[in-house]
Amino acid sequence: MNHFNYKNTLLHCEDVAITDIAAQVGTPFYLYSKATLSRHFQAFDSSFSVPHITCFAAKSCSNIAILHLFATLGGGTDIVSGGELFRALTAGVAPGKIVYSGVGKSRDELKYGLESGILMFNVESEQELDALQEVASSLGVKAPVSFRVNPDVDPKTHAYISTGMAKNKFGVPIADALAVYKRAASMKNIAVVGVSCHIGSQLTDVAPFVESLAKVKKFIQRLQEANCTIKYLDLGGGLGITYDAEEPPAPLAYARALEQELGDLGCTLILEPGRVIVGNAGILVTKVLYTKQGGKKFTIVDAGMNDLARPSLYGAYHAILPVEDRGQGRELGDVVGPICESGDFLARDKEVPISRQNDLLAVMSAGAYGFTMSSNYNTRPRVPEVLVDGSTFHIIRKRETREMMIAGEMIPT
Ligand SMILES: Cc1ncc(COP(=O)(O)O)c(C=O)c1O
Repeated sequence: MNHFNYKNTLLHCEDVAITDIAAQVGTPFYLYSKATLSRHFQAFDSSFSVPHITCFAAKSCSNIAILHLFATLGGGTDIVSGGELFRALTAGVAPGKIVYSGVGKSRDELKYGLESGILMFNVESEQELDALQEVASSLGVKAPVSFRVNPDVDPKTHAYISTGMAKNKFGVPIADALAVYKRAASMKNIAVVGVSCHIGSQLTDVAPFVESLAKVKKFIQRLQEANCTIKYLDLGGGLGITYDAEEPPAPLAYARALEQELGDLGCTLILEPGRVIVGNAGILVTKVLYTKQGGKKFTIVDAGMNDLARPSLYGAYHAILPVEDRGQGRELGDVVGPICESGDFLARDKEVPISRQNDLLAVMSAGAYGFTMSSNYNTRPRVPEVLVDGSTFHIIRKRETREMMIAGEMIPT
């Protein structure tokens, strides 16, 4: 459920007409509904009855206003870079609720995490473990460590966002992990606290989650037999959403299935949802610049693949709605951006609204991996982010200026 609905003929976000926001901030812009964000966070978090921390995956939507919102609802953050750590801390997330994932953390980033007192590092290789030991030793602290194990489970999702198969770069193969844990336990500046696992994103079936949990659970039992105490079990994120006709399990069904498999391991669960919380809580609003009939019908809009990469990158589907429904109907064609690439499209060979110049279009389900994957390609300023709260709206990120885009550049003298 989300709060993007038509009132009479105009698409609203909660109680605000999207046309009113566009008139004030211009286009394109990302638009989030606070009520939807809160509702999705709480629905997910309250689905689990065992002790747990919901650490929202910042990579999916990292604006500090949004990280702050989830922190006020009791959540933590899953980060994958020093930049995301800076965001989370600036947003007021408690360091003790921050988990640090990622296959390539630099020493500088490890140091920043240690100095900040985060809950744990999800370590992905022995060399990273050695680096962490060294950095922790130089600071005279103990680093809280969980290893991300790779259970070799097929999540049945897009190849680019599958992460838990042997052929993927992520984690330590589960068959090798016991030896790595034993080594870590013997290190002076390492405190083994957990096990983590994340098998992919946009999963629409609960079975791969359960299969990987079953493998991880067996592994934790072996660790316990080896007198290695595991306080946290981090199950990652990955629960999918409906973009089109997908029917992913509801958070409650997901939680029930996991808790049933989990039994009584005595660990606190860490969950790292991203997409399921923000995906359908945000949209991208764009304006029609031109229409033309070439080999097919093209609707050329002012947002492109630099603003929303998912259609070009994954062939992902996003529904496109007219912001003003005049009963204009739909037609087969492409909605394309201004970028100089034929791969620059928001919809391809789809039934899209019949549009005229200056119409506003809403690209739905764009809250996750939308703004965070945007870039300055073609030297296009990154667009503003706007948060609606009831009948008011707040600009939570300003539109970039041309000056901001070249601010760090210089011509050698
Ligand atoms: C380690 C980790 N945790 C959590 C997530 C969030 O996944 P999702 O947005 O599918 O919930 C990701 C994304 O791929 C990830 O790599």
